[in-house]
Amino acid sequence: MKILLQVPGRAVERWHAALAAELPDAEISVWPASPARPDYALVWKPPAEFFAAIHPTRAVFNLGAGVDALLAVATLPRDVPVVRLEDAGMAAQMVEYVTLAVLRAYREMDAYAEQQRNGAWRPRPQLPKSGFAIGILGLGVLGQAVASALRGLGFPVRGWTRKPKAVPQVEGFSGPGGLAAFLAGTRVLVCLLPSTRDTRGLLDRRALARLPQGAHVVNVARGEIVVDEDLLALLDSGHLAGAVLDVFRIEPLPPAHPFWHHPRIVVTPHVSAVTVVADSIAQVAAKIRRLEAGLPVSGIVDRTLGY
Ligand SMILES: NC(=O)c1ccc[n+]([C@@H]2O[C@H](COP(=O)([O-])OP(=O)(O)OC[C@H]3O[C@@H](n4cnc5c(N)ncnc54)[C@H](OP(=O)(O)O)[C@@H]3O)[C@@H](O)[C@H]2O)c1
Repeated sequence: MKILLQVPGRAVERWHAALAAELPDAEISVWPASPARPDYALVWKPPAEFFAAIHPTRAVFNLGAGVDALLAVATLPRDVPVVRLEDAGMAAQMVEYVTLAVLRAYREMDAYAEQQRNGAWRPRPQLPKSGFAIGILGLGVLGQAVASALRGLGFPVRGWTRKPKAVPQVEGFSGPGGLAAFLAGTRVLVCLLPSTRDTRGLLDRRALARLPQGAHVVNVARGEIVVDEDLLALLDSGHLAGAVLDVFRIEPLPPAHPFWHHPRIVVTPHVSAVTVVADSIAQVAAKIRRLEAGLPVSGIVDRTLGY
C-alpha cells in the first residue's frame, strides 16, 4: 500500500514517524518525492500543484477538521473520497477554550478588570445561570462536546444546525428559518460551524444585532463566518459586550487590524484546538485499515455541502 504525506514545515518528520509506527507495512513517501498514484494521500493545505501531479486512488485524508482550504484547491480530484479528522484530540481542547470564554463572560471578568484598574472593591450581583443561555452554532463533533461540557456546568444550551438534530438537553434550532429565534435567546454565541458557501458572512450586522443587548461572541471556527466591520460596529455601539476570537479572515491577523487593540476583544492565534499528531494518525490509520478491509468509514466530506 502506497501512502503519500504532505504536511508543511518540519513537523512532517513527526507525522512520518507516527504513520510508520501505525502502518509498518505501508510504503510511505513524503511530498514532493512522490508516486503519481498513491493509494492514499494525507494532506494539510496542499498547494495547487500537488493535485496537478498526484492522483490518489483510494482516499484523501485531510489532517484537520475543517476542509475549507482543501476543497478550495481547484485541482482536487472529484473521483476520490475526502475524509476529515473527527475530534482526534481536538474536542477536549475546544471544550477548555470555550468554557474559559463562557465563564469569563458569565463571571464578568472584564468588568472586574476595569474595577481593578480604578481601585474599586465592588462585588457585583451573581447573574442567574438560568437566564444565561449559551448558543452553539454547529452541533457537530466539536459543538456537541462543547454543549455537553457547558450543560455539565449548569448553563442552558441551545444549538443551531443545518438539519433538525436532537441532542440531549440542548434546545435545537435549525436552518435559516430557525436562526433568528436561536440568536434572540443567546447570551454567549459560540461559532463552531464549518466555513461553507452557506456560512461565510453569516454573522453580519443583521444576525449579530439579533443577539440580546450585552451578548458575547466566541469564534473558534473560521474567520470568514464573521463580518469584521459589523462585529466591531456592534461592540462599539455597546450592543455586544465582548468577543473572543481565535480565527480570522487573514491569518496571521494583520498588524493594523482593529481587532488587535480593541478593548473588548480577546485575540488568540488560532490555538483553540490544535491537531494532535498521535491521535490524528491513529484515527487515519484505523480508517485506512477499514477501507482496506472493504468496510465503511465515518468523516467522509460531502463536497456539495462543503463539510
Ligand atoms: N480554531 C480551531 O483551532 C479549530 C479546530 C478544529 C476545527 N475548527 C473548525 O470547527 C469546525 C467544526 O468542526 P466539527 O468537527 O465539529 O464539524 P462537523 O462535525 O462537520 O459539524 C459541523 C456542524 O455545523 C452544522 N452546519 C454546517 N453547515 C450549516 C449551515 N449552513 N447551517 C446550520 N448549521 C450548519 C452542521 O449541521 P448538521 O448537524 O445539520 O450537519 C454540524 O452540526 C470545522 O469545520 C473547523 O472549521 C477550528
